[in-house]
Amino acid sequence: MLQVNDYPISVRFDPEVGIFSPCIETIERRVSDLRKVFYDHQAVQSILNSGDRLIYEVRTYPFITNKSDMTLGVTRIFPGKVGDEYHMTKGHIHERDDQPEIYYCVYGCGYLLMDTLNGQFRVEPLESGVIVHIPPMWAHRVVNTGNGLLVFVACFHVPAGHDYSLIERQGFTQIVVESYGKPTLIPNKKR
Ligand SMILES: [Fe+2]
Repeated sequence: MLQVNDYPISVRFDPEVGIFSPCIETIERRVSDLRKVFYDHQAVQSILNSGDRLIYEVRTYPFITNKSDMTLGVTRIFPGKVGDEYHMTKGHIHERDDQPEIYYCVYGCGYLLMDTLNGQFRVEPLESGVIVHIPPMWAHRVVNTGNGLLVFVACFHVPAGHDYSLIERQGFTQIVVESYGKPTLIPNKKR
């Protein structure tokens, strides 16, 4: 049960490491959590045979008052690839169709993929200082194509909800792979 607090609250964010405290919940996503998301299932299996490395982690703090709610989330995506596909978030669409979100890239290098799942697809390059408004009904995923951490801050309402299943089944219109040493967007064969 989330605690209601009608008074101002602040947290301390350390931009060097991309961690704020106090936080209410930390979610870890490992290769096994994204086994259906990466297209190269053999690469997933070979990684799992020798361990289950961390892909990203999310720290959240839902600020709940008697008349409002707003969640702060900070995600750290570790660098790396599964096969030739870069580390990324699972990706989701909000369960409610009236719920947008703000992403602020603190540092790192990558892409924000956005998809309506019915024909519209957008790619926003991410680097330090980029802020993106994700409208309602656009699925979203962040891909880390750099050699270091990619850190971004998110703000969204608690009742927005997270539907991961649609994306797990069909993915985004394009995927981001390394080709000739460079991040490259290619069509997703599931779509
Ligand atoms: Fe979201």
